[in-house]
Amino acid sequence: MSETIFEHILVDKDGAIGIITLNRPDVLNALNGKLLAELSFALLELERNADVRAIVVTGTGEKAFAAGADIGELNALSSATAGADQARLGQSITRQIERSRTPVIMAVNGFALGGGCELAMSGDIRIASESAKFGQPEVNLGIMPGYGGSQRTTRLAGKGMAMYLCLTGEMIDAREALRVGLVERVVPPGDLINEAKRIGNAIAAKAPLAIAACKRAINGGAHLAIDDALELEALEFGTLIDTQDAKEGTGAFLEKRKPVWKGV
Ligand code: COA
Repeated sequence: MSETIFEHILVDKDGAIGIITLNRPDVLNALNGKLLAELSFALLELERNADVRAIVVTGTGEKAFAAGADIGELNALSSATAGADQARLGQSITRQIERSRTPVIMAVNGFALGGGCELAMSGDIRIASESAKFGQPEVNLGIMPGYGGSQRTTRLAGKGMAMYLCLTGEMIDAREALRVGLVERVVPPGDLINEAKRIGNAIAAKAPLAIAACKRAINGGAHLAIDDALELEALEFGTLIDTQDAKEGTGAFLEKRKPVWKGV
């Protein structure tokens, strides 16, 4: 994929890892409509590329991952319909990330506010730099989260933390985000991308169908009653057992050799 077609993101590949960098440094990588469209397109292209086994999303520089939806664009919205459509646009991209077969790792390098926090929350795994800050400051603007912040925060960090972030608009630092479950790991700023790539490569070394099935089972089962969720897991497990890679993985263990995955 040629990155020259994009204005507001950079797209790169390092072995099996696709890297998308949000790139509007003058406005702390604020998410305008064009950036969101480019992000959606790039994610789709990387997902279609069988060589890409994990995607890392980060922001340019050390100051911001993304400081939210572009407030200039929000200010120009003038009807309930336009507002709801704007929210649905952001929500569709966060859903695209959750539904993507390819795992998406968010490398949060600085401010992840409003839509930036919502984007980060839609990732499968979040790594934060020690300098990262998270928040849903929409109430400071007379609005509320619209790209999933009032829903995913509850699911990741609990209702109390969702209320705290959304009602006060206050930011929390990376350590607090780790403590409440908004991120999985915190590393020094200089280690962020390497750690995200290391995790991506750990995923890339596994059987592709097993990775996709894990992601589907975890996402699909998260809000089902336990019996339905376990049945979903059983069905995914059954489908996987019937693959060549399952025979290869179990056979390689018994033969004390490294498996060679074929993705079938
Ligand atoms: N949309 C559009 N522009 C934004 C933006 C956003 N969400 N966030 C920051 N910017 C712009 C600023 O307007 C400023 O532009 P300017 O240089 O032309 O004045 C530039 O990015 C740098 O931001 P600035 O506020 O000067 O940096 P800071 O270090 O003083 O503060 C923040 C950083 C993140 C605390 C502050 O920019 C902020 O509160 N941003 C808005 C966060 C927000 O409410 N997000 C939710 C949106 S729904």
